[in-house]
Amino acid sequence: MSADVNATAIVKRIQRTKKYAHLCESVIRRASDQAVARYRTEKEAEKAARRRLHQVYGAYLEEDWVGEVGRALDAVDKDDLAEPRAFCLPLLDLHASTRERVDNLDTLFPRIFSETGTPSHVVDLACGLNPLTVSWMGLPESCRYTAVDLHEGLALVLNRFFERFGLTGEAVCGDVLEWDDFTADVVFLLKVLPCLARQEKDADLATVARIPSRDVVLSYPSKSLSGRDVGMVEHYGNRAREIADCCGRDLIEIEGASELVFVLRKGA
Ligand SMILES: C[S@@+](CC[C@H](N)C(=O)[O-])C[C@H]1O[C@@H](n2cnc3c(N)ncnc32)[C@H](O)[C@@H]1O
Repeated sequence: MSADVNATAIVKRIQRTKKYAHLCESVIRRASDQAVARYRTEKEAEKAARRRLHQVYGAYLEEDWVGEVGRALDAVDKDDLAEPRAFCLPLLDLHASTRERVDNLDTLFPRIFSETGTPSHVVDLACGLNPLTVSWMGLPESCRYTAVDLHEGLALVLNRFFERFGLTGEAVCGDVLEWDDFTADVVFLLKVLPCLARQEKDADLATVARIPSRDVVLSYPSKSLSGRDVGMVEHYGNRAREIADCCGRDLIEIEGASELVFVLRKGA
């Protein structure tokens, strides 16, 4: 049996499981291809592919935050519609990445956009629940906002959110490592580069390298999930500088944020 046939059978079986049914196909395909290259039998390879998916994406799949957002949208009333920020705040608390951002929302996006200028199109790659911060971004109505994540259910609830609140935005289920639609002038890669680097060696650098947009906004957590400072600022700061150097981009640090934030500007 060829490696390709093996991998396809594995992809199909994994897609039929409840846990991974909502993951975009290319993510399952990558884990399966990597496993098929390393294991001799289909059974071993499938086990390894599932293990890999669990290691990389398990944390994003196990809690039912997509369901929680969906239920909150089911219950939206006209008071909520008048106050999108009040509606979104408790939902931002559902996910560790946006939770860390909540106290910083009033200043974070104005500071980012004061560096980039007002964008005409933002792509928020591996967006998680960050699109729920869109009403803090102060984007003009003419600005497109495209949110991409590997979870199909997340794209569905985010589109319901945009529509219900009359906000300009679109959410798409997609794989960042395969994404190639870069008409945006500003691309967000918030708190996802270490996760991409676990999916493929140096995928953090490779992803930034293939983005043609003028500004790429990177962020990293500054503390571990348990709240400890374990040298992350130094470690991730060094990696961001390395990525900027390799990609010929200038690095501008957005200081004073609750996460480590950098704008990587395309060199003149
Ligand atoms: C740590 S969270 C960051 C979420 C968001 N960017 C933020 O800062 O609030 C990582 C997100 O990346 C998504 N993700 C990880 N790998 C991805 C990939 N290859 N393609 C698309 N999304 C991915 C996960 O589903 C998860 O929502």
